[in-house]
This record gives sequence, structure tokens and C-alpha cells, in this order.
Amino acid sequence: MSIIDRPTMSVAGPAAAVVEEVSSWLALPADEVDRAFLPERERVTAAIGDLNEAALAGDGEAFYQQQLLLSRIYQTIMQIPETPTAEGSVLVHEVTRMLETATTAAEDRWIEPGTLEGAPADPKRYLSWLKDLVRRHRAFKHPYYTEFINRDARPEDLRTYVIQESVVDGRFDDFLAMMQIGTSGASKMEIAGNFWDEMGNGDPGEVHTHLFNMIYDVFDIRPQDLESAMTASDLLSGNLAVLLCRYRHTYPEAVGFLGMTEWLVPDRFRNVVRAWERLGLPDAGITYHRLHITIDSQHAAGWFHNVVLPAATSDRMRRGIARGALWRVNSSARHLDERLANTWAATGRTA
Ligand SMILES: [Fe+2]
Ligand SMILES: [Fe+2]
Repeated sequence: MSIIDRPTMSVAGPAAAVVEEVSSWLALPADEVDRAFLPERERVTAAIGDLNEAALAGDGEAFYQQQLLLSRIYQTIMQIPETPTAEGSVLVHEVTRMLETATTAAEDRWIEPGTLEGAPADPKRYLSWLKDLVRRHRAFKHPYYTEFINRDARPEDLRTYVIQESVVDGRFDDFLAMMQIGTSGASKMEIAGNFWDEMGNGDPGEVHTHLFNMIYDVFDIRPQDLESAMTASDLLSGNLAVLLCRYRHTYPEAVGFLGMTEWLVPDRFRNVVRAWERLGLPDAGITYHRLHITIDSQHAAGWFHNVVLPAATSDRMRRGIARGALWRVNSSARHLDERLANTWAATGRTA
């Protein structure tokens, strides 16, 4: 899957122009951006508003542009720059908030009305309810993994898959580092333990992002190739993780989102490992996936017990955790449906 899979029918032409304009600010110092462009605030925010509206109305190109801009803005807070960036700009922050609010509102519309209200108040019963909700979800054992990756995927499909997953797997340690701020007790210990696993328990050769990047060598993927290969849904999955982990007020949603990300991994990766072995690809490239079949089932269990359960005593937390969990599985199911449709379209198969 690549740039060619993007929907091309669009009414978002002028909105795409504002995305390029704001993107061009990101390499300027924040105060310079505000000095030069705050006088343009009304025009720019109106154009971003139009972009969000078009995305919400189902315009695929507008949705792509919206997520592309958000992902570019997030690069300013997720990487240590070598040159100036607009991080901290008042105007960029306003644009960011508009994009974030539209993104979360769109995600809330995918939650079946009444679902969050059905959560039991007792923490243990709540956790069972939440796990059951996800276990019955289409994303839990999605045919993209159980059928396509497992049986049909060719090396080039796995290459695409790795690129698409890089927005989450390639920086999971930073998500944990961001979301743990302000936690205490069992939750902080659990996140710290999880983070230390991400750090290879102190062995630089075992750091998870390093192991993930070893797949890049197998497929000759260069970091500069990544952005142009991303679809809107790929970008959204990375953006949602950054969005939820960066703010303290979305801590409950981050707990649900990351917890379900961990829980979904082992079964999915079993299919990736099967594909890798079926294709006889170099063994070094699959270490990351092999390792996570075991480690992420432990991470999920620890997360449920030490992060979800202690938090599930408050109504606000229960609601937010379930909301984040549903954002994860709903967006993942749409994402995998789309990948499967694209894949089958490319090979002439039908669902
Ligand atoms: Fe990991
Ligand atoms: Fe993990």
C-alpha cells in the first residue's frame, strides 16, 4: 500500500494548501512564526476549520491532509531537532488543538451510543466487561492477520506492513515515557517495568525500537521513505497514540489505548512470524515480533492488573479507559479492513 491508495476525489484543494503552508512554518523558530503569521490567524484557522469539516463529511483526501499535518506537527514534539522548529508557537498550538479536537470527535462517533454507559462500577467486573468488549470486537482476530498475513502475504506486503506499523512500534518507549508523568504507586511501577523491557532491560542490543529497526535493514527501508508511504489510517494510528499520551487529561484514554495495543499484539504477531518463516526471510529481522508474542501478553496482564484495576475505582477513569480502548480497536478495525480491501484489490481477489 502506498501513496497510490489514497482517495483522489476531493473538494479539499484549498485545505491542502493550508496544510502545506502550516507545514512550511514547522522548520522556523516559534517566535518567528507567531510574529509573521499571527496576523493571518483568522484566515488560517478558517481554512483548518474547513479541512476538519470536509474530513468529518467523509472526504478522504481532507482526512489524509488533516492527519498528515497533525503527524508533521507531532514530529516537533517527538524528536530532538538539529535545526529550529516551531514547537511552542501559539499559532501552531491553536492549529494543533483544532486538529486534535476534530480527530477525537470523529473517533467518538464510532463508539456505539450507550456502550460507555454500560460499564459496571466494580473494578473487577469492569475489567472483565472491557476485555469481553474487545474480545468480541472485529479488531481482535482480524482476517488481515489471520488470513492475509498468515497465508498470503509476500515479502513486499511485509515491507509495507512494517512501514505502516512504524508510527506505533517504532516509538512505543516514548509513548510510555510521556504517559507515565503524574502517575504513582502500582501504575508507575508497572509503566516503569514495561519501559525497562522496552530498553532491553539495560542491554542496548535488545532495545525494542532497535530490534524493530532491524527489519528496516531486511527490506531496505529508509526513514525518509516513511511519510510518503503512509495512508491516512496509518497516520491516524500514530497520531492517536501521541495525542493521548501527551496530555494529562487524557491519561485514562491513554491507559485504555496502550493497554489494548499490548493485548492485541501476541496473536497478531504470531501471524507475522508464521509469514516470515513461510517466506524464509532472514531470521534477525523477526526477533522483534517473536519477542513480543510472549512479552506483550505479560505486559497486557500487568497493565490490566496494575494500571487499569487501581484506576477503575473512579467513574471518570472507567469511562476514559473504555473510551481509549474503543478508540484503539475501532480505529484498528477500520485500518485493517482498509488494508485488506486494498490488498485484495491489488491481487484481484474479493472479500
Ligand atoms: Fe516492546
Ligand atoms: Fe509491550
